[in-house]
Amino acid sequence: MSESSFYQSPLARVHNQSYGQHARLAAQELLRQLGKQGHQQGLIVGLGCGSGILEEAMSREGYDVLGVDYSTALIGIARQRCPQGQFHVGALMDFEIPPCLAVTAVGEVLNYRFDERHQLENLLPLFERIYRSLQPGGIFLFDIIEPGIADGTPPVRLLENEHWDMALNFSEDKNAATLQREITLYLKEGALYRKSKEVHRLNLYRKEAVQQLLEQAGFAVATTSSFAGQALRRHHVGFVVKSKQINLNTT
Ligand SMILES: C[S@@+](CC[C@H](N)C(=O)[O-])C[C@H]1O[C@@H](n2cnc3c(N)ncnc32)[C@H](O)[C@@H]1O
Repeated sequence: MSESSFYQSPLARVHNQSYGQHARLAAQELLRQLGKQGHQQGLIVGLGCGSGILEEAMSREGYDVLGVDYSTALIGIARQRCPQGQFHVGALMDFEIPPCLAVTAVGEVLNYRFDERHQLENLLPLFERIYRSLQPGGIFLFDIIEPGIADGTPPVRLLENEHWDMALNFSEDKNAATLQREITLYLKEGALYRKSKEVHRLNLYRKEAVQQLLEQAGFAVATTSSFAGQALRRHHVGFVVKSKQINLNTT
């Protein structure tokens, strides 16, 4: 497994600048859920925290934050964005999750196959670990992509703005339930463009299968198609799951 091949500096910059809205909405959703339970302070652990957008939002609201991510470039941005947080480069499967109020894995984190251990059968031990780390009433908030994501999507898409151009090549293998995204990026640097390419492979999980594992781990599970009132992208499912240790209102 190689840490350095994914979300290297050019893609990390683009992700941070242009793809932060989902993490901002997830932070709002988490604040709403914690507020309902009267949890105004505590530790939030971000698995696959990326550039720390959610963590910064939570830190501004007075929570302590701790994040882990595979990408050195993204963790570098997170440390600058949120100096009060603690951020580590590493694989989430190896990360020792301390006792905490909430755990997040936002932005398809559990689908990524940067680490070959990210398979459906390995999610149960991870969910059990998260469950054990959460304090009573603690929340695990995350999202996944389901199979069918490439249906109706052009296999190649060209995106551009004033800072970069990107060619995105999608291919879904329905039998294997996997998705491959080839990302060719042209990042503007002065009068020139710097080209880089990354290939991301993801496992696609069905909502029901993930829900079953969460329940096996002990969680009270609620799925959602929106965070903070904003619809998630198609074939994306949000999970706001809670430890059953106290009586919770999940509406
Ligand atoms: C789409 S990004 C989302 C980042 C961030 N959570 C956000 O919403 O802005 C997915 C993130 O998951 C991280 N990731 C994927 N697999 C990982 C693993 N096994 N261990 C740690 N981080 C991982 C990637 O490096 C990347 O930062």
